[in-house]
Amino acid sequence: MGGKLSYPHTEVSEDRTYLITGGNTGIGYQTAKSIAKLGGRVVIACRSEEKAKEAVEKMQKEHQEEKKKEEKKEEPEEPEEPIAPLNVEFMILDLASFESTMKFIEAYKAKGYPLHVLICNAGFGAGPKETSADGYEMHFQVNYLSHFLMTLHLLPLLRQSAPNSRIVNVSSTVHTHGVFNLENVNGEQSYDRLKFYGNSKMYQIMNMYAFERRLKDTGISVFSVHPGYVDSEFNRGTADNKLMSFMDSLAGTLRMKRNVQDGAMTTLVAALDTAHDGKSAIYFKSCKPSNASALSRKLEHQEALWKFSVDLLKEKGHLTDELLTDLTLPEPEPTGENKPEGEAKEEDAAAATAGGDAAEGEKKTEEAKEEKKEEGGGDASEKKEAVKEEAKEEAKEEPPKEEEKKEEAKEEENKEEEKKE
Ligand SMILES: NC(=O)c1ccc[n+]([C@@H]2O[C@H](COP(=O)([O-])OP(=O)(O)OC[C@H]3O[C@@H](n4cnc5c(N)ncnc54)[C@H](OP(=O)(O)O)[C@@H]3O)[C@@H](O)[C@H]2O)c1
Repeated sequence: MGGKLSYPHTEVSEDRTYLITGGNTGIGYQTAKSIAKLGGRVVIACRSEEKAKEAVEKMQKEHQEEKKKEEKKEEPEEPEEPIAPLNVEFMILDLASFESTMKFIEAYKAKGYPLHVLICNAGFGAGPKETSADGYEMHFQVNYLSHFLMTLHLLPLLRQSAPNSRIVNVSSTVHTHGVFNLENVNGEQSYDRLKFYGNSKMYQIMNMYAFERRLKDTGISVFSVHPGYVDSEFNRGTADNKLMSFMDSLAGTLRMKRNVQDGAMTTLVAALDTAHDGKSAIYFKSCKPSNASALSRKLEHQEALWKFSVDLLKEKGHLTDELLTDLTLPEPEPTGENKPEGEAKEEDAAAATAGGDAAEGEKKTEEAKEEKKEEGGGDASEKKEAVKEEAKEEAKEEPPKEEEKKEEAKEEENKEEEKKE
């Protein structure tokens, strides 16, 4: 669905190391396998040792079978040569626990591996209200906060691997359902499962912008992606809700979902495509740069979330000032929304000209033009096309608004019934 999706199938150097959270199934599994097949070293970070072991074995088996088939097609008469196994291994990580996350970070560092690309993929969605052992709302901690903690601690390794190291946050179009209220991060005031999933995915995008500001000129890119509506194990999170389960199976029957291979494509573009080298803060959808919600682009919110998260992790003793020294912003931030660099420079140019400095205005106009040329989806018509495409995608991928309303009404009904009980 949504046209043919693809990512560059170019060889990856065996020294390039990719860390993928939640790589034992679904989108993460497919992402891990695809990168390993291209030659990269892959570490999947999973909470269940049993599932992780099985996943690595399955990947190796599938790879052998696929390779044999390819070779038979190309050289039917040739005797079979041994096929090199994929360079993939697992490590244990439970994002629902800071203790486990910190243990994982130390264990990864102790391996002495470099880190080129960190893919924050693990997640769950739209579950009933649950609190982690650390006392936080589960979507907030698993999908966002523990990934943030990991990213901060692994940044020195990403810096060492730069240029062209990357952080990829697997977010969702459901981030558009997010509401920004730091006083209700843990559902202190109210809880709505879709909104809290949406919030966690919105925080991932906000975090992308906050990191991008702090990592300018470091050679580390930060991206986020919406993988599409994917036929993975994701619906486990909503299995307790009859209506959501029904909608999900209906979507499967109507073939509205992407298979996991297609579901991994957008992550693979964000992780591998050299066309995006040197760029940052791009939200990808259907393998192309797209627009994140206006709310997620609000600078003030991004900075408030950064401070909130950092304070909280410091208070828990998991962050030190030393770790944060290179991450202080050089100058006071402008207010408003994040804009693509080119647009911001155009505004600078207009302001300079309006202020009577024609020469400066002309210089800035030229800079803005250059900037726009370099940006993905640079010219206006391309951008319009991307937005049209996106709207079409959205219509296909998102559950119909009418159904959402019914779902919300049903949620309310359930809540009322619960209260009565
Ligand atoms: N499927 C979709 O339609 C869709 C749409 C938009 C965005 N996404 C995003 O895509 C990402 C991957 O989802 P998916 O569709 O591949 O779902 P999935 O098949 O359910 O896979 C989720 C992965 O995350 C892991 N995970 C969950 N909680 C964890 C924890 N506390 N600690 C460590 N790992 C944990 C799971 O491990 P276990 O197997 O042990 O549970 C599993 O490996 C998620 O971030 C999701 O929000 C999915």
